[in-house]
Amino acid sequence: MIIKTAEFICSNTDFKKCPNTEISEFAFIGRSNVGKSSLINMLSKNKKLAKISAKPGKTQLINHFLINKEWYLVDLPGYGWAKVSKTKKEKWGDMTKDYLLYRPNLDCVFVLVDSRLEPQRIDLDFISWIGQNGIPFAIIFTKCDKLSKSKVQSSVALFKRTLLKDWEEMPQYFVSSSADGTGGKEILQFIEEVVNS
Ligand code: GTP
Ligand code: MG
Repeated sequence: MIIKTAEFICSNTDFKKCPNTEISEFAFIGRSNVGKSSLINMLSKNKKLAKISAKPGKTQLINHFLINKEWYLVDLPGYGWAKVSKTKKEKWGDMTKDYLLYRPNLDCVFVLVDSRLEPQRIDLDFISWIGQNGIPFAIIFTKCDKLSKSKVQSSVALFKRTLLKDWEEMPQYFVSSSADGTGGKEILQFIEEVVNS
């Protein structure tokens, strides 16, 4: 898919105020600092579209970006960062969960997992919650440029083995790097298929 335009539309704390529900939408969730905003910039070929930071807790709102005037990419706050206050954590958690549960045009949520880490309880629990609520999702293993190819493979394999204790089959997944563009083509192709389906 060719990205012709990528525009910031709005930021919200309430899913009910999010824009136009007529068009397809793809959201990004995962632990703070896992690389959600960077991946949105990589996919949209615009390094300045979503705000990124080396410090976790950068994205604090539901951010809509309109791509090719046809579908949305949605950047969400991360979960699981210890230094965010309990009040903020609860607020972000409720806001994000309400958005994921009740946004009618959400066609897929990409759950980002750091490819360098062993399976984390918080990610597994989040994936379970998504599954229990019937929210369509795919997994993206991020920051693969930081590991050798074989290490990425074994990390993905371990995650699969862990997930398959609870799941009958491995959900759709991708491996990505926002630093070198790995996975961009495949993720955009997946989005294109969903948009056109
Ligand atoms: P929050 O908004 O705080 O939840 O974080 P986020 O998940 O949006 O992460 P963000 O995109 O802001 O990236 C966090 C840090 O990881 C930044 O310093 C990025 O430059 C770095 N980063 C993100 N993706 C990659 C990647 O694929 N490879 C490498 N090497 N660094 C990455
Ligand atoms: Mg972010």
